[in-house]
Amino acid sequence: MTETPRLLSGSGDPDELSLETTLRPQRLDDYVGQASLVDNLRVFIQAAKGRRECLDHVLLFGPPGLGKTTLAHIIANEMDAPLRSTSGPVLERAGDLAAILTNLEPGEVLFIDEIHRLSAAVEEILYPALEDFQLDLVLGQGPAARTVKLELPRFTLVAATTRAGLITAPLRARFGIVHRLDFYSAEDLTRIVSRSAHLLGIETEPEGALEIARRSRGTPRIANRLLRRVRDFAEVHGEGVIDHAMAQRGLALLEVDEFGFGEVDRKILATLIEHYAGGPAGLAAIAAAIGEDRGTLEDLYEPYLIQEGFLQRTPRGRVATARAYRHLGFDPPGDPGRNRTLF
Ligand SMILES: Nc1ncnc2c1ncn2[C@@H]1O[C@H](COP(=O)(O)OP(=O)(O)OP(=O)(O)O)[C@@H](O)[C@H]1O
Ligand SMILES: [Mg+2]
Repeated sequence: MTETPRLLSGSGDPDELSLETTLRPQRLDDYVGQASLVDNLRVFIQAAKGRRECLDHVLLFGPPGLGKTTLAHIIANEMDAPLRSTSGPVLERAGDLAAILTNLEPGEVLFIDEIHRLSAAVEEILYPALEDFQLDLVLGQGPAARTVKLELPRFTLVAATTRAGLITAPLRARFGIVHRLDFYSAEDLTRIVSRSAHLLGIETEPEGALEIARRSRGTPRIANRLLRRVRDFAEVHGEGVIDHAMAQRGLALLEVDEFGFGEVDRKILATLIEHYAGGPAGLAAIAAAIGEDRGTLEDLYEPYLIQEGFLQRTPRGRVATARAYRHLGFDPPGDPGRNRTLF
């Protein structure tokens, strides 16, 4: 695992983890946004329950902090089924997965996070388990080896990944429901901030919640973190109430700019513009220049910069857009420029 900055990633900090659990919605009705995904799931869950069947296997993908793990828990709750969680890197050997599969209760929801990190050997035994609810176990070695087929109880696999591109085609084909989570609108994030504030007993005014939402990079996890950091400022510098002015002040002190960009986002854009004349530049070169891990840039930072039109991914590398130049106070190339006089 690579280190990821705390503001964006899930963290190992026990306080943060228990907080995520406290704030995690438990039911589809409380899950804000992602309307098409939620509407579809509601139908599929109701239909499966009506037939007394398991829900089809579900693959969720999208950037960190958008609610994949949360949805896995919600699916289990809505199906009235127990949930068992594991993750790709934890399942090192085929036997690790076989042990989990043979211990599943009928109808159980198995959640595998970071499914793109499953080894080929483990993935291999997952195929028949998903398709036919069977496990092909190889006993013994060499000429004496034989295959034993074990029947498994019916179950639902919910798998999550931040890297849909790394999922092999045969694995992907075995999911009945495949869905991408999108960044949240400021409106949805405002609802999430207000909901979290209510749960944590923090007083916010609507404009204060909106300001935090606007600067949360479309990501509920970031919105919840910023809310708590701004609360600290509101308690120390004010009466504890997060109004618009307090949110602006707190976010400025946290160095979160008007687009929600932090230091690393600005460094990515500045490196491209100042060192590579706006690009194209390879990801590895940018990562080395700013001292960040390549995967972290690709997973955590780029998706939002690209979606907001500050960065482009081209076959020859990353390119800074005119918007990025202007945001950092440069004239975009080809721009007549503010200070030049044209005759
Ligand atoms: N739709 C939502 N409505 C309300 N809160 C949400 C929603 N989605 C996520 N959250 C909040 O954001 C936090 C992070 O979500 P979650 O852990 O599910 O993200 P994730 O997609 O699994 O991230 P990662 O890829 O890092 O594992 C949750 O604890 C929850 O409080
Ligand atoms: Mg998760």
